[in-house]
Amino acid sequence: MSAPPQPGVPRHLAVIMDGNGRWAERRHRPRALGHRAGARAVNLCIDWCLRRGIAALTLFAFSSENWGRPEDEVGALMKLFLNALEREVDELHRRGVRLRFIGERERFPPEILARMAEAETRTAGNAALHLTIAASYGGRQDIARAARAVAEDVAAGRLSPADIDEAAIGRRMALAELPPPDLFIRTGGDHRISNFLLWQLAYTELWFTELLWPDLDEPTLERALADFAGRERRFGLTSAQVAPAGAVPPPLPTLDRTDA
Ligand code: FPP
Repeated sequence: MSAPPQPGVPRHLAVIMDGNGRWAERRHRPRALGHRAGARAVNLCIDWCLRRGIAALTLFAFSSENWGRPEDEVGALMKLFLNALEREVDELHRRGVRLRFIGERERFPPEILARMAEAETRTAGNAALHLTIAASYGGRQDIARAARAVAEDVAAGRLSPADIDEAAIGRRMALAELPPPDLFIRTGGDHRISNFLLWQLAYTELWFTELLWPDLDEPTLERALADFAGRERRFGLTSAQVAPAGAVPPPLPTLDRTDA
């Protein structure tokens, strides 16, 4: 069972796990080794979400563009995904994690496809954490698919063009059954979205760290959470509109006298 949600804790966390390649290169080791170390950080992140009562975690594991990487790196990643699916699903299931995949899964080899489907079916009844792996995923591709689904429904007479609104498109996007991510974390030092969840991140709080993904640790995740808890989410409104009635503004931070 996951811990009950606490105020200031995101319901849904989305993560770009960047920096595996550099982590390995700095050690003069093959990039594939960085991805293996990255898989350990995935476990740490899942554990932490379960303990912190975060209801949904979406991880960007492989972008549509990553297919263009050198063949040996793509091969190593496929092997790693297959191993992870063989090794980790039992434990995830035992801990109540529901596993889903988003992206163009038809591009994966049949043995991976079969394992993905098996893992989804097996864990479908779990609710401690909704873990979504974005694999062969691209935000533009997601939007294009939703547009195609809308067009098909219009062509078939199931939807009137007058009824095409944000909700109609949103229902046809990946992750439609989850609240949009509250917090986005990207490791590896780059300040980009890199074609991840373009639609779903519209009002997500963004947090970046220089830390490389395989070096992820709990203090870093806690720092992201503390920062998130201090942000005012206005969703296009004013401060006065979103502040709870009668709320006392938090005191301004004071300088530590020893630092003065
Ligand atoms: C980006 O780092 C990371 C990836 C393209 C792969 C992510 C995969 C994992 C974390 C491993 C396993 C995941 C699961 C879900 C089992 P990069 O290679 O672009 O790093 P760089 O920017 O340093 O080159």
